Amino acid sequence: MNVHDSEKVVGTLVSEGYSQVETPEEAALVLYNTCSIRDKAEQKVFHRLQQFKKEHGKGKMFGVLGCVAQQEGEKIFERAPHVNLVAGSASYNKLPQMLVQLEAGNRRVTGLSLDTEDTFDTPFARRDNPHRAYITIIEGCDKSCAYCVVPFTRGPERSRTSESVLNEVRQLAQMGYTEIQLLGQNVNSYRDPSPAGWDFARLLREVGRVDGIRRVRFTTSHPRDFVKEIIDAIDENPALCNHVHLPVQSGSSAVLDRMQRLYTRDEYMRRIEWMKAAKRKISITTDIIVGFPGETEADFEQTLRLLEEVDYDSLFSFKYSRRPNTPALALDDQVPEDEKGRRLTILQELQRSIQVRRNSELVGTVEEAMVEGYNKATGQWIGRTSQNRTLNFTHAVHPNPESGEDFAGKYIAVRVTRAGPNSLAGEAIVE
Ligand code: 5AD
Ligand code: SF4
Repeated sequence: MNVHDSEKVVGTLVSEGYSQVETPEEAALVLYNTCSIRDKAEQKVFHRLQQFKKEHGKGKMFGVLGCVAQQEGEKIFERAPHVNLVAGSASYNKLPQMLVQLEAGNRRVTGLSLDTEDTFDTPFARRDNPHRAYITIIEGCDKSCAYCVVPFTRGPERSRTSESVLNEVRQLAQMGYTEIQLLGQNVNSYRDPSPAGWDFARLLREVGRVDGIRRVRFTTSHPRDFVKEIIDAIDENPALCNHVHLPVQSGSSAVLDRMQRLYTRDEYMRRIEWMKAAKRKISITTDIIVGFPGETEADFEQTLRLLEEVDYDSLFSFKYSRRPNTPALALDDQVPEDEKGRRLTILQELQRSIQVRRNSELVGTVEEAMVEGYNKATGQWIGRTSQNRTLNFTHAVHPNPESGEDFAGKYIAVRVTRAGPNSLAGEAIVE
């Protein structure tokens, strides 16, 4: 989401006549897009701001964008006095005006209001990847998970109209993009604000039907709003990738309740069963938080058992981090840092063994890889499967891009010959 926000910010400013430079050293204005989902991400911003100023800061202007900007607001000017602009994502529509104020000599410009019905719906996104395009369909979040800062930094939910989303998809298809990734804090609660009133499953279906689009992905999903129609849509159209990222956070219903996640372990498992009953094999991935306040050894054990029961293809795992404004701050019974670390290591080791086994089961099969590039160091093409696995491969006729064929952006059938915990390797099938 942040990567794509940056693409939209750059595109908007370029359309206003600014130009983007290769390195921050060359820039007159340096914008930092920031994340405050965990404390570590936030600390990094201030560290970078200080360091960059020391080394290259002379005569430059600095802006802080994103969730740290929204959360810390004008306090950023105190902590990093060389910063001139602080703006959260709900104010990006106003960035051009804010830059005019900076140019007029104003040294403290802010965009911090969350009171907006608008989405940052710009026709000018400057996309970095020529084959895969991100599209935001919904911004903000109306849930209130007890640990999460997002509702405070990105504001309430706002969906784009289906017409605006589909127009963008059609344009991208005409430009040669074949893969679309639909983005939102919670894509499942998408609701078309126009009279058509489409829900997420309907939008997904229609995006998958656009001529030229071969792969559609979406992230991220909330289990509470994840309906069976989404699986039906995936079943019906092979252009909808057979991968679902469904963050569970914990395998213990007691912890889920304290997290205010709005579902139990059993309700989550029902969604997993829909996926396992689908016609195509759907790859399932998740997010886990360990060490949420009050998480006992028995709760943690339930998370480990859940990993085995679902048999995830991959997961992101985090130690619980206390965030400003969040309801979980009021909970006692904090889990000590070293205990969080111990649980995280155990969890990651278990998941690694699951992935080694699951990936090795694919050796001998043929997968379609979308080619992302070429790795000179290993002499392999870099590919990705519909299930979102990395599949690096060699090609007997065109071993590299200098061989008369650059496969970047193409779809190639590959026989899997080796498997590791995080990727597959194979050989392209040459006719
Ligand atoms: N501490 C740790 N992990 C968090 N996440 C969100 N907030 C926190 C927090 N306070 C994780 C969740 C979410 C992912 C994007 O980040 O697992 O799904
Ligand atoms: Fe945060 Fe929960 Fe909203 Fe996801 S659904 S952004 S975890 S509050």
